[in-house]
Amino acid sequence: MKKSTLSMVALGLLLGATGGAAWAAPDWTKAAKRDITVFHPGTAAMEWVGKKSDHSGTAGLKKGETCVGCHEEKGGLNFNFKRLADKELEPVGAPKTMNYPVAVQAAYDASNLYIRLTFKAPTGGANKGDKTNEVKATVLFPDEKVQLAAQAGCWASCHNDARTMPGADEKKTKYTKEGSYQLMQWASGKGAKVADGTVTTERKMEGGSLGAKAEGSKAGDTYTVTFTRKNPGEGKVVPFGVAIHADNASGRFHHVSLGYTIGVGADGDLKASKQ
Ligand code: HEC
Repeated sequence: MKKSTLSMVALGLLLGATGGAAWAAPDWTKAAKRDITVFHPGTAAMEWVGKKSDHSGTAGLKKGETCVGCHEEKGGLNFNFKRLADKELEPVGAPKTMNYPVAVQAAYDASNLYIRLTFKAPTGGANKGDKTNEVKATVLFPDEKVQLAAQAGCWASCHNDARTMPGADEKKTKYTKEGSYQLMQWASGKGAKVADGTVTTERKMEGGSLGAKAEGSKAGDTYTVTFTRKNPGEGKVVPFGVAIHADNASGRFHHVSLGYTIGVGADGDLKASKQ
């Protein structure tokens, strides 16, 4: 090989290598990982969890305890799932699988925070309102003004009078009473757009500022969804919640997580490390 050709090859390799480091997703074998259980919450909205006669966690919440602090046990959730599937909290129909684990991983670089979800989406749902997307995966990030932002993940966006709740207006989306959420959503339908949205007085699936990107794939019955969003800043501890719509479910018929945190190079439920 002539010298010039050799240096061309070397240059190509070099470009490939730097290009890879700048753009490729992180090395997930080195990223922090935590199993988070998602569950069918029935109609247990913010109003329900905040009502003492319904929920004995109400007083603890006021004192600053987290949902996870009371409800996560031995790597799972201590809920009475029969109660969550019963008429009081689920008047329409509960899914066959009331809860399942989602492996959540996180890593960051100078520009982005990467979040990867791996899960087996269950069938046997009671609502098939989304004909286009078999599965949707959503991550919500409350700002600090959201009620119970650091304790309750998505809960402050979920209300008694939002669509698909009993007797509610079918046009009313989830909303907040104070503060706002940023959200990103991946949907499995062909050509579906990645949502980069917000929840304020209503939910909007675009116009958010996360710079959200997502890629998803299915192998056997396991979905892997990798989200990229702007790095919120090194040292930040970012509260988040996850929702999965499986088996063509829509509206409130999703499985949701309680509220967790990602520490960006800092301690959190999940500590994202720099790559
Ligand atoms: C101080 C502890 C505590 C906190 C904090 C707490 N809970 Fe509970 N929660 C309980 C207890 C105890 C029960 C079961 C008895 C009851 O409902 O009164 C319960 C029941 C529930 C149920 C009904 C299912 C069942 O097992 O009875 C749901 C849903 C629920 N909690 C959601 C939440 C959410 C969401 C949060 C955070 C916004 C939260 N809880 C915070 C203690 C807590």
